[in-house]
Amino acid sequence: MNHQIFKIAALAGDGIGPEVMREAIKVLRAVESKFRIRFTITEAAVGWAGIDAAGHALPADTLALCRQSDAILFGSVGLPQRDPGISKEARPERAALMRLRQEFQLFANLRPVKLWPELGHVCPVISQRRSAGIDILVVRELIGGLYFGTPKGIDPIEGGQRRAVDTMVYTTGEIERIAQVAFQAAEKRAGYPGSRQPPKVTSIDKMNVLENGILWREVVTEVAQQYPRVTLEHMLVDNAAMQLMLRPSQFDVVLCENLFGDILSDEAAALAGSLGMVPSASLGATKGGCVFGLYEPAGGTAPDIAGTNSANPIAQILSAAMMLDFSFKLSAPRDAILTAIAQAIAAGNRTGDIHDASDTACKKVSTSQMGDAIAAAI
Ligand code: IPM
Ligand code: MG
Repeated sequence: MNHQIFKIAALAGDGIGPEVMREAIKVLRAVESKFRIRFTITEAAVGWAGIDAAGHALPADTLALCRQSDAILFGSVGLPQRDPGISKEARPERAALMRLRQEFQLFANLRPVKLWPELGHVCPVISQRRSAGIDILVVRELIGGLYFGTPKGIDPIEGGQRRAVDTMVYTTGEIERIAQVAFQAAEKRAGYPGSRQPPKVTSIDKMNVLENGILWREVVTEVAQQYPRVTLEHMLVDNAAMQLMLRPSQFDVVLCENLFGDILSDEAAALAGSLGMVPSASLGATKGGCVFGLYEPAGGTAPDIAGTNSANPIAQILSAAMMLDFSFKLSAPRDAILTAIAQAIAAGNRTGDIHDASDTACKKVSTSQMGDAIAAAI
């Protein structure tokens, strides 16, 4: 991509989505005026907002906009209170989010979890509050495994019972391409200042029980041969769940299949103290040096605080920063956003989720005040 206009589809969605999206756009506008770049940001409905506006969680216009864009900046979708009365296929999680992942073949999901030095108080793992050594990248396979394998369904069986079937399927090709992403990410992270040396990939599986686990371990071990600078470690998923709580600082890049990654990335996110601090990137294959991606906060729609201007916009803003990095290859603007967030935090700005009432140097701020502070720092 050598033109300097980047087309962004901004799909805010439901719950706190619109509030945090507004702040991310504010920050992108600040980036535009500081650096000589232009973003065309077009907003479109998705999720329940799409159902209300056009009768579908992913309206045709929204999908068309995504196809014409260089990247998707996504908020969040799903409102459990509205689920009764809609078919499972039409629910935003499946009809919008899973559909977009599949449509654009976004097989690689990156979720960086970092405990920011000033936020040690919000980390639930006591030993880590002191050492503050949590900087993990979860690399999750996103369009295979139990989520998409066939057969899938709920069927009647004899005796008036019913049976639910989900199928876990992975080909060697699917395992290989996500493993490549993990090892490349480990090498890239090793280049950042203060990073772990040597870089490490911890590959998660259940090879003591599942055929999938055996194949996963074999293929990942093979891919590792191409990356002699990266240490490879294998870990069973149940042990990994425990190790994340016991000794999170042992992890660098964590490589998982889809469902394990879904679960472990939420667990890892808890270590950062708040889902409001965790962004994500869902990436497709690289074409001509560009990667199409969907960037979204790891947290959900938080309906309990929606509309109160109190949600933490940092995960959405960090997601925008990942978009600049991965899809647009704009590293200086990306760095400017990260520095601005660090400055806003250092200046004591805290949304409710990361606020520490006993720290008098901090002030509790709203969603828009946090966005203002970050945009001003840029
Ligand atoms: C996530 C979410 C989704 C998933 C849901 C909403 C379908 O939990 O992005 O982690 O399971 O992938
Ligand atoms: Mg999840």
